[in-house]
Amino acid sequence: MGIPQPAFYIFKCEQSAPPGMPKPSCVTDATRDLFQHLGMKLMEKGLIATVQPVRTACLNRCQQGPVMLVEPGHHMYVGLTKEKIDRIIDEHIIGEKPVAEYLIADEFWDEALSPMQAMKMAGR
Ligand code: FES
Repeated sequence: MGIPQPAFYIFKCEQSAPPGMPKPSCVTDATRDLFQHLGMKLMEKGLIATVQPVRTACLNRCQQGPVMLVEPGHHMYVGLTKEKIDRIIDEHIIGEKPVAEYLIADEFWDEALSPMQAMKMAGR
């Protein structure tokens, strides 16, 4: 038997804005420890062997931050807190039922463009 691939990847936006930047960002003094909390919870639950947390740069949903994307499934969670992360781990990761009330609104997360559609829109 080979090394098992992860069952889930959790991409947590770790972008912070430089001082004075008016645009919101996912990492502020108030939210700086969310990634560490995520990692600790996964370890506490014995999930770290099959759930891979990944620090990412901006995921382009800054207004809804802090955000994280759970794959597979393109599940974008917004307005994260430690309590929300705990519930996402229990219900989505362990229970395999996404927490609908924490997901981004459909209007901000429409169907993906295919690469061919994107190229056409870009005039290529
Ligand atoms: S800063 Fe996190 S989505 Fe942009």
